Amino acid sequence: MGIGSGLNGARVLVTAASQGIGFGAAQAFLEEGARVVINSSNAERLDSARRSLEPLGEVHGVLADLRVPADLDRLLEETSLRLGGLDTLVYVTGSPRPGVFLEQEFADWDAAARLLVVSPAYLARRAAERMLAGGSKGRMVFLTSVAIREPIPTIATSSVCRIAVAGLVRTLARELGPKGIRVNGILPGWIRTGRLDQIMQDSSRRKGTTPEAERAALEREIPLGRVGTTEELARAIVFLGSEMSSYVSGALLPVDGGLLRSVG
Ligand SMILES: NC(=O)c1ccc[n+]([C@@H]2O[C@H](COP(=O)([O-])OP(=O)(O)OC[C@H]3O[C@@H](n4cnc5c(N)ncnc54)[C@H](OP(=O)(O)O)[C@@H]3O)[C@@H](O)[C@H]2O)c1
Repeated sequence: MGIGSGLNGARVLVTAASQGIGFGAAQAFLEEGARVVINSSNAERLDSARRSLEPLGEVHGVLADLRVPADLDRLLEETSLRLGGLDTLVYVTGSPRPGVFLEQEFADWDAAARLLVVSPAYLARRAAERMLAGGSKGRMVFLTSVAIREPIPTIATSSVCRIAVAGLVRTLARELGPKGIRVNGILPGWIRTGRLDQIMQDSSRRKGTTPEAERAALEREIPLGRVGTTEELARAIVFLGSEMSSYVSGALLPVDGGLLRSVG
């Protein structure tokens, strides 16, 4: 018996997917035969992403700012209209501004909390309603970060706020499991994207080094000796977002080349 993803024709929403981790996830779901809606907040980048994914299968773009409640409602409505329901939600977000704790203003914490805590919780509720109304089994995958286990000092708001996503995953796994919806989280380590470049630039500016030197130092800390690719991360997202993981719920899976040192 082969291990099939069972994703052929599945209806998948991937948020924040015009580039980077979200884009890689959308690509992987399309390659497994899923029908996909991608989202982002920039019309030009979203359309360009949709056009480059189009040869792989059915893909739609829905413009929505994940910080705006009305946009979250519309995102779910348009997704359901275009796909005829929803089987898998993959929640990726934009990034809060990098910075150490002593640089963060009230507005930075406020913005990070909305982006990383309030919006995913609200979108999850709306997504669960759609899944339950359609009688589908339902799967949710939330992207968070290894920083929730071992905080990274130069991204203070992210290290703090993303911990709530782990709470959301565990809470929803208990509440929605009996209704047939599985909820899991992924803790990416360092993945090669525009966000990684932004963090390397910020950290080299602070230390008076170069982004290349910062990245080399980072890679020396990773047991597998390199940062990961969006394709490698996408395989884990597809696993949790499909029936390949049919008995997994409430899990928080690091995909980090062995970076996390803590046990548990
Ligand atoms: N790369 C890593 O090593 C790493 C590790 C752990 C966690 N993460 C986190 O994972 C997430 C994705 O990271 P990435 O590396 O893929 O970043 P990225 O390459 O910078 O991509 C970010 C994506 O988020 C979208 N986006 C930004 N603000 C948005 C908003 N308000 N509403 C809707 N979409 C929005 C962007 O699209 P538009 O600009 O078109 O809106 C883009 O598609 C981030 O939260 C990041 O902090 C990254």
